[in-house]
Amino acid sequence: MAEMTLHQIRKTYGALEVLHGINLEIGKGELMVFVGPSGCGKSTLLRCIAGLEDISAGELRIEGSLMNDVPPSRRGISMVFQSYALYPHMTLFDNMAFGLKIAGMKKDEIRTRVNRAADILQLTPLLGRYPKALSGGQRQRVAIGRAIVRDPRVFLFDEPLSNLDAALRVATRIEIAKLKQSMPDTTMIYVTHDQVEAMTLADRIVVLRDGKIEQVGTPQELYRTPRNVFVAQFIGSPAMNVLHAEMQHGDAGVTIAHAAGGESLLGRAGPLNAGPVQLGVRPEDLTLARDAAPLFHGRIDHVEHLGELQLVHTDVGLSNQPIIAKLPGELDLQRGADIALAARPSSLHVFDAEGHRLNGAA
Ligand SMILES: Nc1ncnc2c1ncn2[C@@H]1O[C@H](COP(=O)(O)OP(=O)(O)OP(=O)(O)O)[C@@H](O)[C@H]1O
Ligand SMILES: [Mg+2]
Repeated sequence: MAEMTLHQIRKTYGALEVLHGINLEIGKGELMVFVGPSGCGKSTLLRCIAGLEDISAGELRIEGSLMNDVPPSRRGISMVFQSYALYPHMTLFDNMAFGLKIAGMKKDEIRTRVNRAADILQLTPLLGRYPKALSGGQRQRVAIGRAIVRDPRVFLFDEPLSNLDAALRVATRIEIAKLKQSMPDTTMIYVTHDQVEAMTLADRIVVLRDGKIEQVGTPQELYRTPRNVFVAQFIGSPAMNVLHAEMQHGDAGVTIAHAAGGESLLGRAGPLNAGPVQLGVRPEDLTLARDAAPLFHGRIDHVEHLGELQLVHTDVGLSNQPIIAKLPGELDLQRGADIALAARPSSLHVFDAEGHRLNGAA
């Protein structure tokens, strides 16, 4: 049985509907990541699950039981927010123990739980310290510890790392991955803006847009077979290049010819209908066309060096739409030079004029 089932969940504020009927099943012990543009409803959905917002319509079930009218404290859920407040006048131990004391738990049990959480989060040597004597990452771990001691069935994280600097984010992300491994039966839902966090932490990712689910799948499924242009351009960085193209059927099979002039033979197994489509190719799937027939021909407009690789923006003659290629850093590529780029036909993504995927599964 699914640990959590969302059936046609809607949320309205007055006349404004911000969640438009969300259907989702989350398995026990699964780490589900919600991503989507700002304002798409990620936090609202999380708060509906936690019980911090009323659900306007639909059903939320945890282990089969209807939760819509169950108060937050009785849902077996702990939530960690982006901005968390620790009590400055309390030690770490007391910060983590506070909620349990309020709930009237016995001292021995509190000690056991706080020590276990501190152990998982590597905070044991710091338990006697006050928050002001901690780094940002350590404070965030205390906030997570406060959630762990409640021994929740389900953990909700709303952008817990977004206040941390880049290095701390990486370190804390690894902590969270380890935390998940040490609590294999605890279901987690994690909201983030960060691609890398989503790809590395998730068992499955939910892509939301304007209060609707666009796609649910493993990170690899979303990356390899995005079901529409929106997901294709949301997952992956830099975003997939997408341009207008035309499918043609010839003796050799199906070819795709795009607006900037290049074409590629997709082979016999291509999508069926000839006509206007959208062609997608990821920056990392483009290579310099040495012998291969180029898919794109153009002039280098801008180069961003990232060390081991470089992002090469190429003007292929489409107004305001450079083609971006992620190429090895050691290649000597200068602004203004001509460049020819190729891609394996199997790496191409084909969408219909409305943006729905045509080739491959999904
Ligand atoms: N209390 C409220 N009253 C009215 N509208 C609200 C309320 N809370 C949220 N909204 C609206 O609901 C939509 C979804 O907001 P939400 O905070 O869930 O977005 P989000 O995906 O978490 O965005 P972000 O990535 O910026 O955190 C937004 O359009 C927001 O303005
Ligand atoms: Mg939010």
